[in-house]
Order: sequence, then structure tokens, then C-alpha cells
Amino acid sequence: MKTQVAIIGGGPSGLLLSQLLHRRGIESVVLERKTKDYVLGRIRAGVLEQGLVRLLEEAGCAARLHAEGHVHGGTLISYGDQMFRVDFTEHTGTPVIVYGQTEVTRDLYAAREAADGIIEYEVEDVVIHAADTDAPYVTYTIHGQPRRVDCDFVAGCDGFHGVSRQTIPLDVRKEYEKVYPFGWLGILSETPPVNHELVYANSPRGFALCSMRNEHLSRYYIQCSLSDRPEDWTDEAFWQELKRRIPADQAEKLVTGPSIEKSIAPLRSFVTEPMRWGRLFLCGDAAHIVPPTGAKGLNTAASDVHYLYTGLREFYETGSSAGIDSYSQKALARVWKAERFSWWFSSLMHRYPDQSEFDLKMQVADLEFLRSSKAAQKAMAENYVGLPY
Ligand code: APR
Ligand code: PHB
Repeated sequence: MKTQVAIIGGGPSGLLLSQLLHRRGIESVVLERKTKDYVLGRIRAGVLEQGLVRLLEEAGCAARLHAEGHVHGGTLISYGDQMFRVDFTEHTGTPVIVYGQTEVTRDLYAAREAADGIIEYEVEDVVIHAADTDAPYVTYTIHGQPRRVDCDFVAGCDGFHGVSRQTIPLDVRKEYEKVYPFGWLGILSETPPVNHELVYANSPRGFALCSMRNEHLSRYYIQCSLSDRPEDWTDEAFWQELKRRIPADQAEKLVTGPSIEKSIAPLRSFVTEPMRWGRLFLCGDAAHIVPPTGAKGLNTAASDVHYLYTGLREFYETGSSAGIDSYSQKALARVWKAERFSWWFSSLMHRYPDQSEFDLKMQVADLEFLRSSKAAQKAMAENYVGLPY
């Protein structure tokens, strides 16, 4: 098979890139390891920056998002029984939209299928060849049958555990990592959200987050030990712990119910540099990971896609390689700012095992400063709604 762009990974990054390229008449093939149902079964954050909304509009995939997404003009932050609101619209003129990542992915799959896009599912043994030449190609198997795609470029959108990052030689790539000493225990419940906006809570017992997918589906998290397993937590134990970590007035009105999903996610900050090697370009989780605190995973994948799509479009429409040559530098400049914000917000809201009494005083002072300073709230709001592309 021959195409212009071979895309490894059928998650949000790969699908969004494929659909944007298609809208400009640029051919691609998406190679996905799992089935479509498996990909759609993943539960992920759903706070969309305006940059991602605009990309989905350009991709022709934003109709359901605008019909069903929830516009959030701010968020609530609590520590102890103190709670204050950071007003995104007041400070930046921009809200965020709450719309599950699963729904974004579902809309992108629907668009690719409507355009007869080529998506190969359940691929195995993917190997990227000759990425450092002008004639890269990808080999893989499907149900044991060998396949090959010859292409102009390869987009590595295959996530943290994919093959693309590993294709870049160790003496070329540098990796940066911070592993956090706790995880997030999350549940999904068919209950009305406790608040119409998100509540980020710092409590002496640890972090908690009250989020949602829609007015009938709530998503809650509590910081937990890395040695915890989901089966260690009954629903009742989860609800009791959550109530102890959020302000009393929120706990009183919390509607509990059976969990329909329960899982634990570790927290990690990770970046690989460069995000390009020859004709291979890394996008999204293949190149970087953020702790979910700032909801930057999907949104930073989106800015990568924006830079790569823009560069590839320029190459095919004008012959200039300026955009693809500056891809890694542009993408990383924004990635590191998202990493900083996610690390800062995680440091502000979680309890760390090795925190000294002085550290705790600094954390409360940071929260007090954020509560009392419009400048601090504006800085947070600018990062949360998304820095410019
Ligand atoms: N071959 C083909 N496909 C692969 C391979 C491989 N060797 N390895 C992984 N994949 C697929 C995975 O099955 C997955 O569907 O690549 C896709 C990568 O998707 P994501 O992990 O969702 O990464 P990305 O598309 O960059 O989206 C980033 O997803 O993980 C969240 O928090 C993250 O919200 C962020 C978003
Ligand atoms: C979620 O709804 O899953 C979510 C929202 C905001 C975050 C993290 C997760 O910061």
C-alpha cells in the first residue's frame, strides 16, 4: 500500500491528524493495534481547550460537541472548608468545554468512516523503517498476514507504550521524567454531578476531584496510594472518603450511587526530545505525558497535531519544509508549558508523603495567594483554558 502520511495509532491524536489532512486532500492510513470498541472503551478526561474545539470544527467534527458539550466559565478550588472560584471568562474571555474524550474519539471515528478513511485495526508487529531517509515505510501484520505501507512521512501517534518513540535512536533522543508518589482512584457513576463546575479539593487526607461527563454522569477521583488496587475500595468506602475531602456543603449534597467504572491511574510527567527524527514525527502521548490534574493530555496532543498538520499542509501545498522543520521546536515549546502547569497544579493540590511542616505551610500560602490575587488567578486561568498555539 502507498500513502502520503502513515499514522501509527488510532487514538485522538492519530484520528484528528488523519481527518484534518483528509480535509486538505492529503492521504493517510491509520494503523491501530486494538479494535475500535476497545479504543472507545477507554475512560479519559474531557476538558477541551478552545484550541482543540477549533481544530475539531476545522475537521468537521464539532457538531455533537457544540450540541452536547457543557461550557464551563470557571472552576472551584477548595482547601479544608475554604472554597473559591477561578473565573476563566473574567480573566481570559475564554471558557472550556466539558465533553468526554471518548465522545471526541467517537466523533473522529465517525468522520473518518464517513470519508472512507483507511483505518487498519488489530495491527501487530508494527515496525517503522528508513525514517531517516526520504522513503520511509512501515511494516506490520494483521492476523499473521504481512503488510507494508510506503509513505512520505510517518506520524507516531501511538501513545506512551507505542513503538514510534522507540524508533528514534537512544543517542538522538533525551527523555525527562517525574513519577509522582501517589495515584488517582477514579469512578464513574450515573448520578448528577455535585456541582455544575469542577471542584478541585486539597484536603489533609489528600486530593479529590469532582468532575462530570454530563448532567447524569459524574466522574470523581481521590488521591490514593500506589499500592492500592481498585478492588481494595468498595463504592461505600470511596464515597465516604470523597465526602471527607471536599467542603462540607458539597459533601452534604453529594448524590452517591453504584460505580459503573472504577480504576487507578498512576501520575507521571514525561517528555522526549526531539519530537521529530527524519520523516518520523511524534504526536501526543507518544512524546509526552502529564499528570491529569490540569487536564492537559488531550489538549497538548491537539496542539502537536495542529503544528504537524500545518507543516504537512505547507509541504504539500507549497513544497516548503519550513513548517515540518520547525515542528519539534514549536511543539516542545508549548509541551513544556503544559508540563509546568500540570506539575505546579499537582504540587498545589496533592499531599506528598515526604512533605515537611514547612512544605505544608508553603502549600497553604500558595493556595491563599491564589484565592486572594486576581493576578494569580489570571495566570492560572490562562494556563487552564490553554495557552496560544
Ligand atoms: N501499533 C499500532 N497502534 C498502537 C501501537 C502500535 N504499536 N501502540 C499503541 N497503539 C495505539 C493504542 O492502542 C491507542 O489507541 O495508539 C493509540 C494511542 O492513543 P492514546 O494513548 O490515547 O494517545 P493519543 O492519541 O496521543 O491521545 C492522548 O489520550 O491517553 C490519553 O491522556 C491522554 O488525553 C490524552 C490522549
Ligand atoms: C475528568 O473529568 O476525567 C477530569 C477533569 C479534569 C481533570 C482531570 C480529569 O483535571
